Amino acid sequence: MDEKYESAMNCLRKYGQEHILNNYDKLSDEKKEKLLNQILTIDLNQIKELYESTKKEVSFANDKIEPIDFVDKSALSEEELNKYNTLGENEIKKGKYAVVTMAGGQGTRLGHNGPKGTFKLGLENDKSIFEILIDNLKANNEKYGVTIPWYIMTSRENNEQTENFFKENNYFGYDPKAIMFFKQGELPMCSEEGKLLMDENGSIKEAADGHGGIFESMRRNGVIFDMQQKGIEWAFIGPVDNVLVKMVDPTLLGVAIDKNVLAAGKSVVKAGPKEKVGVFCKRNGKPGVVEYTEITEDLAEATDENGNLVFAESHINCNLFNVKAIEEVSLKKLPYHSAHKKAKYIDENGELVVPEKPNAYKFESFIFDAFDMLEDMAILRVKREEEFAPVKNAEGNDSPETARKLYKDFYGIK
Ligand code: UTP
Repeated sequence: MDEKYESAMNCLRKYGQEHILNNYDKLSDEKKEKLLNQILTIDLNQIKELYESTKKEVSFANDKIEPIDFVDKSALSEEELNKYNTLGENEIKKGKYAVVTMAGGQGTRLGHNGPKGTFKLGLENDKSIFEILIDNLKANNEKYGVTIPWYIMTSRENNEQTENFFKENNYFGYDPKAIMFFKQGELPMCSEEGKLLMDENGSIKEAADGHGGIFESMRRNGVIFDMQQKGIEWAFIGPVDNVLVKMVDPTLLGVAIDKNVLAAGKSVVKAGPKEKVGVFCKRNGKPGVVEYTEITEDLAEATDENGNLVFAESHINCNLFNVKAIEEVSLKKLPYHSAHKKAKYIDENGELVVPEKPNAYKFESFIFDAFDMLEDMAILRVKREEEFAPVKNAEGNDSPETARKLYKDFYGIK
């Protein structure tokens, strides 16, 4: 056996992961080489620590959670709204604004065979989600006399399909030079015993490392550099799966500029104390999001003198960042959260195992964990029916059916 194999085996032994080389002899030369490189680049110590963290109870009990100030768009006077819009529009017209779409998720709940953006919403015009987003960007380009640069974050799993979809459809008439795809990072998954898993290609099974990985991926892939070269100062970072996402919003930008902060997030009013959404808050004096899994019942149900929820600003993953803030966060490490998921893998006898219940841990970071790295941020409360039509589940809540209805109602389509 050669030196590289020995080094890889030594690394694995140190962390009790030697089983990864059990079926090595059966692999092609190309796959052997790929596997050894993978073993030598993966941070096995990090995986050990992440696995250990799944056994620890995380307590937020000592965190000081307070409500956060917000601007309610619908309560602004005409004068205030104009002030914010003018501030924002001026920057957009000067070409200082870009859009980043997070499209690296696996979309497991929707279960569509392909990247979520290629999913057709079921409208008469047969448009896919990506096309719906493009229509929106094109309308803004026309309005502001610019071509807004569009950065699309994909993953190893869906990058090729995503890029091909755009090419085959001639970028739906968008200027291809204004679109840049970049891949997000990945982390190995591990079994409930902390063992790495093999995938069907003879590699260690890895999965996208969550939307929080976007900042580091933007730096590693030269997106931040590209923005700086183009003189872009602000980037809206939003999801692929909200068909009413307002990617170009001068009000949001104007509020951020007016408040002299480097980030701003959009909220919609939480539907009720039990809705499964994270809400914006101040955590230990810094902006943050308290997730529905961690908020205490008392805080979730607290109301003000008018009977309104005190923690009502739902985070809808539509946030704006100054490029300086993106760069700053990209140099720091966001915490990882573990999710218990179903993962197919190849067992030690070389057999494919397709689990029926969760059998593995996936590690992800969340975009909102970056908020407390910022001194402050502005929150703009917008109307749910105007800006929030998520496509998450195959049926029921937040499904194509509900999103289609919201989309049609908003655009007045019968
Ligand atoms: P979700 O957290 O809803 O995940 O993503 P998902 O992958 O789309 O769906 P499920 O949970 O597997 O059913 C919210 C947004 O963040 C992006 C998604 O593409 C979506 O736009 N995302 C999520 C990434 O870009 N990368 C990730 O690793 C996770």
